[in-house]
Amino acid sequence: MAERKNLILVGFMGTGKTAVGRAAAERLGFAYVDTDDLIEQEAGKTIARIFAEDGEPHFRDLESEAIRSLVRLERHVVATGGGCVLRDENWEAMRQAGLVVCLTARPEVILERTRAESHRPLLRTADPMARIRELLDYRAAFYARADLSVDTSDLTVAEVVQRVLEWMFHEAGQA
Ligand code: S3P
Repeated sequence: MAERKNLILVGFMGTGKTAVGRAAAERLGFAYVDTDDLIEQEAGKTIARIFAEDGEPHFRDLESEAIRSLVRLERHVVATGGGCVLRDENWEAMRQAGLVVCLTARPEVILERTRAESHRPLLRTADPMARIRELLDYRAAFYARADLSVDTSDLTVAEVVQRVLEWMFHEAGQA
């Protein structure tokens, strides 16, 4: 795993990147970092405010900047924002930074997991289920570029972590 030094989690909102990322980091003895947190720290305001005041394109530029900074990291598990898969330049940086694992979940599960939270501007709509389906359809081909995908709908966090780590160690053996 010499040059694959980090584990990068991508995936739609509500697929478990934060919970799985934290648990995986603990098991690996890696540090945990979330690109949304990096963006908020750098901008000095929340993602919701960045969307409202500066617009989504500006948010995507800040996101690409945060993703670019990942290549400097070692021994980190990184949870990314659900839309980071949309830009090629982000993929280049993520692949350089480590192994990229996509977490997925059924739309109903995503709705259930995200409905109690209000910090995601893209899901603040009258019909979040329709929005989830529309975004998932549009993004499916982008998420499919990951090295591994795990459907978290019916798994515990520990089970997802176990699958990801088994695969990672297998990959490391092949390298
Ligand atoms: C987004 C996902 C969010 C955050 C922003 C946009 C997206 O991150 O980056 O609200 O486009 O899917 P999470 O996936 O961590 O919720």
